[in-house]
Amino acid sequence: MDTDSNRRGFLRKSLAVLATGAASAKLLIPNAFSKDTTPKQIEGPYYPPKGYRNNMYNDDFNNDLTMIKGLVAEADGNKVYLIGEVRDHLGKIVAGARVEVWQACHFGRYQHPGDKAYDLGPRDPKFQYYGVAKTDKHGRYAFKTILPPAYPSGVIKSWWRPPHIHFKISKTGYKEVTTQIYFNDLTLSHDENEKRHLELQRKDLVLRSLRKEKKRNKLIVDLQLAKHHKGLDARLVQSGLSFKAERDLHKWEEAKVGKFDIKLKNQMDD
Ligand SMILES: [Fe+2]
Repeated sequence: MDTDSNRRGFLRKSLAVLATGAASAKLLIPNAFSKDTTPKQIEGPYYPPKGYRNNMYNDDFNNDLTMIKGLVAEADGNKVYLIGEVRDHLGKIVAGARVEVWQACHFGRYQHPGDKAYDLGPRDPKFQYYGVAKTDKHGRYAFKTILPPAYPSGVIKSWWRPPHIHFKISKTGYKEVTTQIYFNDLTLSHDENEKRHLELQRKDLVLRSLRKEKKRNKLIVDLQLAKHHKGLDARLVQSGLSFKAERDLHKWEEAKVGKFDIKLKNQMDD
């Protein structure tokens, strides 16, 4: 098979949709224009295969992507904690929602047989690639992971996907939401790499499939230094992360935290 064919094929479809206008885009991204609820984004070609997902979903929480059970070494990359709340469109807490995340490793590779971007480097065997959490009684979830890099779309040479993490949120009685989040790093605003990432974000055809800036902004998460985030330690432990967060935060001076709140639509609503 042609190198990168899956990656190219899927993203080419997305590009075609953008070219044929909003009506078609709406078919591919239902609810993208609905009011208030979390905007949808394409699933992309690298949602991990069922076997891998089942392997990683032994209980309610497998939300530390930086460590694989049985391995001592931690994943490469800058650590980030993702926290947030899930509510319905009326603002009511949604407890017991399943929150899945998947993303590229530090080298820009996904855990998927369709990712054949060998030129980016090998996959990180210490990274988990996929995680799952259930919201607690306050509707809260948390993940510990790494910030992924930008990677080439494989469709147009100049089009690199900005750093992003894929989300899928589901619960019986609510419409499932698949989306992607992006980052504003408030602590690195003068960093050259960060400037490049923000430029890629502005141009990204997937993010721009949301025509309204207000919608796009809902998917752009502000990152701040985790050690300055009051109450994060207790919050992370409550959210099922089985490590001592305080020790972690001391160890990783540069660890970041980003908050992404999710709003679901009830199944019965249009
Ligand atoms: Fe992706």
